[in-house]
Amino acid sequence: MVGKVTYLNYQGLQEGKLLNDLTELYCQLWEYDPNFGEYLKCPICNKYYSHEWYLLNKTVIKSPCCNSELIPAWPRSTTRQMILQQSMDSTFVGFILIDDNLVQGFSWGMVFWNYEMDNRFGQGTYSQIFSANKDALGCFYLKELGVSRLVQGNGYGKGLVKAVFSETKRLYPSYTSALTTHPLSKSVGIYTKIGFRYIGDIPKVPDRVAYGIPKVSEIQLDGM
Ligand SMILES: CC(C)(COP(=O)(O)OP(=O)(O)OC[C@H]1O[C@@H](n2cnc3c(N)ncnc32)[C@H](O)[C@@H]1OP(=O)(O)O)[C@@H](O)C(=O)NCCC(=O)NCCS
Repeated sequence: MVGKVTYLNYQGLQEGKLLNDLTELYCQLWEYDPNFGEYLKCPICNKYYSHEWYLLNKTVIKSPCCNSELIPAWPRSTTRQMILQQSMDSTFVGFILIDDNLVQGFSWGMVFWNYEMDNRFGQGTYSQIFSANKDALGCFYLKELGVSRLVQGNGYGKGLVKAVFSETKRLYPSYTSALTTHPLSKSVGIYTKIGFRYIGDIPKVPDRVAYGIPKVSEIQLDGM
């Protein structure tokens, strides 16, 4: 890995160029990623429409789902506020990757109480992980992982995951950990390599799968 992975926290992330650049990368990643395809959104049912769909259907004024006008899936100013707010969580652990003076990747997460995880994943999904570690005070939820499409495949994703979980192993070794992703995301290979296992689909969201591990201390970062 050639880029510099930098620790992020609420002191490091404030209004300014870094936050703007991170927001731009974050939005573009979900907008153009072929799996997520979150370019436009229906304001009524929240269904996403990909950039490919947009190119083919530019002339269609109303959405096929609710006959409503589509809106940008990732508006910059609300997304910037969302990122800033997440970074202020007292349990936030986050890293960004800077390469060639550009923000090229990010990964972060935070602790959720156990009861919040079943709400997030759907009844019963998280309980598999929790039942294997009932003493865990909470769950470190890996909320985000993304690397610019221009530099994917160079080990950055693994580097970011390693950075986040090295810190998490220090801070929350006895907690559970969980995450959601797209079943076709390259991230699945990274997560399973370090010990996460598939725990279920997310009933509330199509094309999302949940992975988890009963104890953060069991995450294997050596030899990634
Ligand atoms: C997932 C993502 C962060 C990976 O970043 P990356 O820098 O390309 O990843 P790396 O170069 O570190 O590769 C890591 C692993 O990905 C997997 N991988 C890489 N290329 C792959 C491919 N073409 N097909 C399937 N898996 C692949 C492998 O497991 C690889 O590990 P290995 O080289 O030891 O075999 C990046 O693809 C991305 O941002 N995708 C869109 C957003 C996303 O899916 N985020 C995660 C879910 S929230």
